[in-house]
Amino acid sequence: MNTKTSLTDTYQLNDGKTIPCVGFGTWQIPDGNAAANSVKAALEAGYRHIDTASAYNNEESVGRGVVESGLKREDVYLTTKLWNTDRGYETTLKAASLSLKKLGVDFIDLYLIHWPANDVVYDDPAAVNAAPWRAFEKLQKDGLVRSIGVSNFWEQHLQQIFDVCEVKPAVNQIECHPGYPQFETIEFCRQHDIVVEAWSPLGRGTVLTDERLKAIADRYGKSTAQLSLRWELQHGLLPLPKSVNPERIQENAQIFDFVISDEDMKTIDELPEFGYSTFSPLTLKF
Ligand SMILES: NC(=O)c1ccc[n+]([C@@H]2O[C@H](COP(=O)([O-])OP(=O)(O)OC[C@H]3O[C@@H](n4cnc5c(N)ncnc54)[C@H](OP(=O)(O)O)[C@@H]3O)[C@@H](O)[C@H]2O)c1
Repeated sequence: MNTKTSLTDTYQLNDGKTIPCVGFGTWQIPDGNAAANSVKAALEAGYRHIDTASAYNNEESVGRGVVESGLKREDVYLTTKLWNTDRGYETTLKAASLSLKKLGVDFIDLYLIHWPANDVVYDDPAAVNAAPWRAFEKLQKDGLVRSIGVSNFWEQHLQQIFDVCEVKPAVNQIECHPGYPQFETIEFCRQHDIVVEAWSPLGRGTVLTDERLKAIADRYGKSTAQLSLRWELQHGLLPLPKSVNPERIQENAQIFDFVISDEDMKTIDELPEFGYSTFSPLTLKF
């Protein structure tokens, strides 16, 4: 059972650091005031963990939102990600430097490899995945990045990192929501002491209108969004809900005042697949 009681409660990482148990997602929030204002609204609502990526093209505005919130840099946990076109050793170092500049910070709390290279695109994907990881280890040694991890890595991709790493990934960020829980990857990560973050924790909106979830949520006096985020927390996952709407940003933070019963957890666990993005790390061509 997850015992988190607020947005500022943390998970322990395998590198000795901690990470706030809910993050604010920023994918598809346009650069400019939309991103800066959403980040400010999230920080006002009590979130202390912001998730962006170089591929989201909003790092500058995310950084501006943090500054305009008036919070101290060290009180906000910032994650960004390395995009696929930068996977070489030197290109990774350059990309990290650019992300630091755009975010306007002198360290990143968590840096993730956004997607693994796969054998549909590469003859030797293991070598392609090893190069950025070596650069990540250097960035961590140099103090530019506090924790390092991956995203969308399944067991075989993680194994490629384990084969070459000095430092194990602290985090794996994968798609996870009711209708697409990815329990096998979660279990593998757990065995290796890797915290799993849930991307698209609301299935990009697909969970919101699901009648089966709505019936359960109604019994707790909660929305389907809150039920889904709570289900993720109770599985020991770290959800990253995105919204540009201040009321919904607040709604998504009200997930600590109820507990889903074991029976309802099981019902949600066993829902047939729905809402899957179809972005498979095994076959994606980017
Ligand atoms: N690593 C990866 O490859 C990867 C891939 C995808 C996502 N992510 C991360 O995960 C984050 C979240 O995933 P996501 O952005 O795909 O989708 P999501 O958080 O599952 O869903 C966001 C959608 O739900 C709506 N919404 C949010 N809260 C709501 C509520 N309480 N009631 C009704 N509607 C609500 C939002 O609309 P409004 O904005 O209009 O409220 C938006 O359309 C991303 O922003 C990103 O940081 C990572």
